[in-house]
Amino acid sequence: MEKVDVVLGLQWGDEGKGKVVDVLTPRYQVVARFQGGPNAGHTLEFEGEKYVLRSIPSGIFQGGKVNIIGNGVVLDPILFREEAEALVASGHDLTRRLYISKRAHLILPTHRMLDAAYEAAKGSAKIGTTGKGIGPTYTDKVSRTGMRVGDLLGDFEATYAAAKARHQAILRSLGYECDITELEKKWMEGVEYLKRFRIIDSEQTINDLLAEGGSVLAEGAQGTLLDVDFGSYPFVTSSNTVCAGACTGLGVAPNRIGEVFGIFKAYCTRVGSGPFPTELFDADGERMCSIGHEFGAVTGRRRRCGWLDMVALKYSIMVNGVTQLIMMKSDVLNDFDTIKVAVAYRMQGRTVEHFPYSVEGDVEPVYREFKGWKCDISGMRTYEEFPAELKSYVEFIEEQTGVPVKIISVGPDRAATIVR
Ligand code: GDP
Ligand code: IMO
Ligand code: MG
Repeated sequence: MEKVDVVLGLQWGDEGKGKVVDVLTPRYQVVARFQGGPNAGHTLEFEGEKYVLRSIPSGIFQGGKVNIIGNGVVLDPILFREEAEALVASGHDLTRRLYISKRAHLILPTHRMLDAAYEAAKGSAKIGTTGKGIGPTYTDKVSRTGMRVGDLLGDFEATYAAAKARHQAILRSLGYECDITELEKKWMEGVEYLKRFRIIDSEQTINDLLAEGGSVLAEGAQGTLLDVDFGSYPFVTSSNTVCAGACTGLGVAPNRIGEVFGIFKAYCTRVGSGPFPTELFDADGERMCSIGHEFGAVTGRRRRCGWLDMVALKYSIMVNGVTQLIMMKSDVLNDFDTIKVAVAYRMQGRTVEHFPYSVEGDVEPVYREFKGWKCDISGMRTYEEFPAELKSYVEFIEEQTGVPVKIISVGPDRAATIVR
């Protein structure tokens, strides 16, 4: 019996999961998304083309592999259709090799509106969500009032109408009176489009494949510090982004998990509200943002930037059981004289090395400084070519975490990837 390997983000999302999944896909037969929805924006670049995927797994470009949208995902038929049609238009036909779980929950037009209304009601305490209706959809799932992809195969009109009426009552109570006729029409068209794909019991398909010796790569969305249990609550997303989420989001048992690829940027970014201990408000932060093009793939929002946070990284590695580390965007630090890494926090006069319950308020990172490599590494293709300063940085991370850094990314293109 083969195992399921998992790719997941160790920071606040946008670590480069899409690129890594694309690079790793040739090793697998199936790639499956296990949580999140169109709040994700996974960017892939190869052969001069650039693609941004939201709900469709990042394994669709390499070798005609089967890709699965698992039960843990929340799916918006409108956005799914836009995404799939754009791919088809660019020559990537998916209908026969993109499967969708019957158990995946549907994002309704009113879920998006509720997301906006809840955010507005929070005022300055808003989460800064992606506005895709993620929270309200997962809320309905847990409240046992959600609608699933499998429902679309039967008569779903009454279920849909009941959900819509319930949502509209909430919206009215919040002072929103909205006309959803247009959006609803697009949603229904999206539903019809969705039915072209194979709607399956994905947990059975995946486990049958594993039993036959097939291999599966599970693709995470968001990042560990946005996990609903382990992230900086309440400034989190509404799903379990950690490795355990691959078990519940695909229906694979914990003992079926193989390698856990933990992805991190050589620095840190965060989009949306919430604590970020190593955030920079100076010229270094500006440089990271401009050199790293740190603007959201989905919302276009500017990402907040800061130094690598070892306290948070070790915590993420612990809760995920990471077996291999993957460092991304190393090239963004090419020009820095000094590179810093937080190795502890100073909080209320104490030095803290374990990621605490709350990192809000007075948290001062204790930095260890590294000499920058000050050269362009983006054309390098072997670890041996790397400057000594970069090797020291990588070795420091390995020594601190006890986990090998197996892949180092030096540019957005598929080819700019060093596998050790
Ligand atoms: P994801 O959500 O984790 O898939 O990451 P995103 O796609 O949202 O953000 C990562 C961004 O960094 C994308 O624009 C990638 O093209 C880009 N990227 C990935 N790896 C590298 C790298 O090593 N260097 C640089 N400069 N950009 C990278
Ligand atoms: P990928 O997969 C970065 C953030 C939002 C917000 C919080 C909650 O591309 O890494 P939500 O819409 O999920 O209710 O928003 O989570 N967020 C992300 N940040 N990358 C993502 O996905 C994100 N998905 C959600 O900005 O702070
Ligand atoms: Mg992203």
